Amino acid sequence: MTAQLIDGVKTAERIRSNIKDEVAEWIAGGNPAPGLATVLVGENPASQVYVRSKQKACGEAGIESYGFNLPGTATQEEVEALVRQLNADPKVNGILVQLPLPAGLDEEKVLREIKIEKDVDGFHPLNIGRLAQKGREPLFIPCTPYGCMVLLEETGIKLSGAKAVVLGRSNIVGMPVALLLVRADATVTICHSRTKDLPAVVCEADVLVAAIGKAEMVRGDWVKPGAVVIDVGINRVEDASKTKGYRLVGDVAFDEVKEVAAFITPVPGGVGPMTIAMLLQNTLRAAKMSK
Ligand code: GUN
Repeated sequence: MTAQLIDGVKTAERIRSNIKDEVAEWIAGGNPAPGLATVLVGENPASQVYVRSKQKACGEAGIESYGFNLPGTATQEEVEALVRQLNADPKVNGILVQLPLPAGLDEEKVLREIKIEKDVDGFHPLNIGRLAQKGREPLFIPCTPYGCMVLLEETGIKLSGAKAVVLGRSNIVGMPVALLLVRADATVTICHSRTKDLPAVVCEADVLVAAIGKAEMVRGDWVKPGAVVIDVGINRVEDASKTKGYRLVGDVAFDEVKEVAAFITPVPGGVGPMTIAMLLQNTLRAAKMSK
């Protein structure tokens, strides 16, 4: 069997085009352009790239972006003071503090400072707490996990009663995606570095979300025939045939797993583009909620 590709580029483009139309309509209705503030602390090259793409995507959708760069030496108080300033700024509807923060800064304290109505990343402890509780609604769903759920929806698979396995328990992807799958009535197993006999656990999955950060770790013989595989990993592997000297691969050995799965996301072009689309969606929602 050759799996059907879940095309994140196409899905993200459709969402971004709808958002652009909605933003234009919102502005034509006499409202100010939605605004997203990005906060980047230090000079992590990957974070710089991510923040730049988020700002570019805002521009294309008609959303104003306000970039704030603090040096890696910024103190906890300086970062929190900036967040408080953005909380008070009516032009700013969403605040995104790019993670990870440099060592020495208390990430949870910074995230807790963000006004929850502006928490477009959904990482405020109150938003995450609500996500984890039955009958409670977070104001915002974290962008990458949200993107994974939209891609699962694209396949038409019934999540209710499905066995889902999540590889990885990070605050940014693994844990929130597991919580979303539980909310969709899947039976969820979360695996991590201490999980025993990982291939046997993965083999049970009707839905597999891999977010562990290890290049091509999930092999073809780990995967149940007909499973839906969402690969969140973005790993660089050396490749002398490429001009950059590397290529990007996921956490899943794509060529092997595509022969077994029913649906699979490619890397690049799967989950990656969805993160930004969902961020734009959350920012527009924040603007509309602020009225
Ligand atoms: N670092 C990696 N992914 C993300 C994300 O979705 N949001 C933020 N703020 N930081 C990240």
